[in-house]
Amino acid sequence: MSALLVFCHESNPTPIGADDLLPRTLPVATAECDGLDTRRQGHSLAEFRGEAVSIEEGDVVSSEQWDISSGVGITALMVAAARALESARENRLIDDPYAAALATAAGPAVPTAESDISAGLPDAVDYIGVRSRFFDNWFEKVCADGVRQAVILASGLDTRAFRLPWPDELRLFEIDQPKVLAYKDEVLDQQGARLRCVRQLVAVDLRDDWATALRQAGFDPTRPTAWLAEGLLYYLSATAEQQLLRTIHDLSAAGSRIAIENLHTKRSTLLNPDMSESSQRWGVDLDELLSAEDRTNAADLLTESGWLVHRETAIDAAGRFGRELGGAARGLSQFGDLLTAELPH
Ligand SMILES: C[S@@+](CC[C@H](N)C(=O)[O-])C[C@H]1O[C@@H](n2cnc3c(N)ncnc32)[C@H](O)[C@@H]1O
Repeated sequence: MSALLVFCHESNPTPIGADDLLPRTLPVATAECDGLDTRRQGHSLAEFRGEAVSIEEGDVVSSEQWDISSGVGITALMVAAARALESARENRLIDDPYAAALATAAGPAVPTAESDISAGLPDAVDYIGVRSRFFDNWFEKVCADGVRQAVILASGLDTRAFRLPWPDELRLFEIDQPKVLAYKDEVLDQQGARLRCVRQLVAVDLRDDWATALRQAGFDPTRPTAWLAEGLLYYLSATAEQQLLRTIHDLSAAGSRIAIENLHTKRSTLLNPDMSESSQRWGVDLDELLSAEDRTNAADLLTESGWLVHRETAIDAAGRFGRELGGAARGLSQFGDLLTAELPH
């Protein structure tokens, strides 16, 4: 069975024939950073736009591509809108100065008023604020422990490369679909955003051979790595999720860390009719996007592979940050947690 079939969403299991393969080099953009330089080396942003996933001839490529205002790409806009609202609060848990521009530059794709967002996802802004702060703090901790290589899986409109105080020599890889990454960098360029680390974009579908793409981008599997999967696993099929975790494990040197937004319930229980209806009004069908399969908890998969796992509910994390989660955000804690783990030496 081809890798494509293993990685495909159930909703779109169409395999691709040889005619669909586009032999070319990997569209990786590199931005060396000393805090002042946002130049990209090797490839221009334009090369991202419209580019399909690029792997060696003979491999398979996922047929499913999306941009920022279609399919799962819209969810990245939704999260950016929530981060913008959180950043504007007096008691904000994060400060993302680029989130507002990222949420709005695509046009009226998603609502940006808190009342509109809350109508479909009650307390979503509170929850996103807690989740973002949790992972910000985690990155700070693992860097303090000496990790100097990080991979953000499905980075979407994440701007941590531009807003966190990374240590010198930190090399950060961001993986997402080509058009999502291209949109983000175009907006960040317009905003004059300045990198705070060495950053490399890896434009690839996480259901394809992303490990090869990551290595080609300069990832070093012999170095301990900090992996982040935030807002990702519930879009993957159970098989793709397991394969993703297995690949992460295979690429992880001793001392590596991982952080996951780990909603391990059957996805259908996450959705209520209000949420489904509102998301459809925004042009995204969450019923369609969220995989409804039962699956093994990521915590169990990691533990079986030797990782030391720690889990905290969003409610407890919020408490540590001085915030009380209510409504639906509170409900999310019944369905999952914020997971961190370490692969011991
Ligand atoms: C809800 S957004 C979260 C983005 C980011 N992690 C954050 O928290 O802001 C989901 C992201 O997952 C990306 N994504 C989903 N499935 C993917 C796949 N198979 N390969 C690459 N990216 C994927 C989407 O393009 C989108 O940017």
